[in-house]
Amino acid sequence: MLKLHKAVILTISLMVILLLAITACGGAQPAAKITPAPTKAAATPAAAQATPTTVKAAATPVAAKPTATQVATKPTTTTTETKPTVAAPKATPAALKPAAAEEFMAQMAKDKTLGDILTDAKGMTLYTFKNDKPNESTCDAACAKTWPPVVVADEKAKLTTAAGITGKLGVIERKDHSYQVTYNEMPLYRYAEDTKPGEAKGENLNGLWHVVSSSAMGLTEPTMAGGKIALLLPESKTARYETADRPYFEAKFKELCADCEIIYNNANQDANTKLSQDEAALTNGAKVLVLDPVDSAAAAVIANKAKAQGVPVIAYDRLILNSPSVNYYISFDNKKVGELQAQSLMDELNKLGKKNPQIVMINGSPTDNNAKLFKEGALSVFDPLVKAKKLTLAKEYDTPDWSPDQAQNEMQQALTALGNKVDGVYAANDGTASGAIAAMKAAGLKTLPPVTGQDAELAAVQRILEGEQYMTVYKAIKPEAEAAAQLAYDLFSKTTVPATMTEGKTVNNGKMDVPSVLLAPVAVTKSNIKDTIVKDKFWTVEQICTTEYASACKVVKLE
Ligand code: BGC
Repeated sequence: MLKLHKAVILTISLMVILLLAITACGGAQPAAKITPAPTKAAATPAAAQATPTTVKAAATPVAAKPTATQVATKPTTTTTETKPTVAAPKATPAALKPAAAEEFMAQMAKDKTLGDILTDAKGMTLYTFKNDKPNESTCDAACAKTWPPVVVADEKAKLTTAAGITGKLGVIERKDHSYQVTYNEMPLYRYAEDTKPGEAKGENLNGLWHVVSSSAMGLTEPTMAGGKIALLLPESKTARYETADRPYFEAKFKELCADCEIIYNNANQDANTKLSQDEAALTNGAKVLVLDPVDSAAAAVIANKAKAQGVPVIAYDRLILNSPSVNYYISFDNKKVGELQAQSLMDELNKLGKKNPQIVMINGSPTDNNAKLFKEGALSVFDPLVKAKKLTLAKEYDTPDWSPDQAQNEMQQALTALGNKVDGVYAANDGTASGAIAAMKAAGLKTLPPVTGQDAELAAVQRILEGEQYMTVYKAIKPEAEAAAQLAYDLFSKTTVPATMTEGKTVNNGKMDVPSVLLAPVAVTKSNIKDTIVKDKFWTVEQICTTEYASACKVVKLE
């Protein structure tokens, strides 16, 4: 009874105040401002309607300035409602119960870089906040000043979506008892710095705020059917590209976009072939290049050309140097690869009781930025030992094209020069290791010294079991290739790349800090083949332990 009584008094006093206000303003002019056409007025938050010309007003959180509409519909909830300011000029009868003010309409707009994004009826970009939970906003007070929530009068507000938008709109009650619109249960906001339709200045701000993009939130599928992207790999002598990188990439990308076409090329380590293949991919309409260069510096020309055509570039496994046009870099911590190789070799030489051992260093291709990093990592272990006279770097080679045959020649030269006295071989990958081992066998060495490698090629894993090669570095290519496929798809479909992809990591390529995904390499010897390569199903026991290797497998319990 008391409540009812209060409500009646309140309603009467509000009406009086409103009547006074109308008279003072010379009639119902604001009512005309609240356009009955559902879309325009509906999309504007109540606070923005109070001062339609300035965006600052739109940025004002409802909590700070309750609107007349709210006061009228929730008379008993707050104390501010009875203050005279509430009934200020805009509180016209039309504003008190306008059908339009209770409506919200979501539309779709095309953004040049972001693709289809969700906007209000005025075309103002809408955002979601990563810290929110479904149906719960965590953006209040100061946050809500910068990110005004999209509010409607109450939970019964009419919500509509423009044609083609398949997600669901909803309304939640905020901590300040205002009502916020949600999209697929995520609270919606505008950004105070977006001053006109078409702006999306808040996208990815602090990695926490994101526009509602087509694929992310169930809008119509992006218009990409039949689109092309390109996977451009450098060589085929190293097994990984055809046995792992390519199949893993293709499987993942097809899963993401069944209708898409993947242009694939492998340059067989020929720098000129590579450049023409990469260029052809652009000419043939690839919308994203996933490019593993033969020559890290020469590839800049392609990246720049791609950018000029609006085609994003992912530097895959090897960085593209000195180009301002690389969107992402996906690889391993390559300096770490070199450190792991060198440290394993030194540990084994120590175990063998070698004092000041004499080693040969067979590095990778001088045009591959990775080869430089592997060497740098290895030398960070070797150099102090050389200085301390605990190690002799007897011979050092850079191996053009990473060619196993070249590596064999280099090792042959070293053996001749050193009278076959070699205590250990640092080989940068399994291919060069195979060349070095072949040279040592051909030279008639009875016991082979420890040899390093990289890539966990099947033949190398088997050599390790047999004792011909000491170690390899296992790089989980599946996550590398799949991350590249996901990124390629996101760039292709113009979906916002989640901040978790790179976690803020960048690598400088001489011209820019390239957002980077860097995975961790693992040193593998006989003792941990099972826990790494086999565990990850990189190679199965059946693949490794063929008849020839059955007894070696038994020794390390690979059965
Ligand atoms: C890759 C290695 C590979 C080498 C030769 C490097 O860039 O990271 O995994 O063995 O190239 O292709």
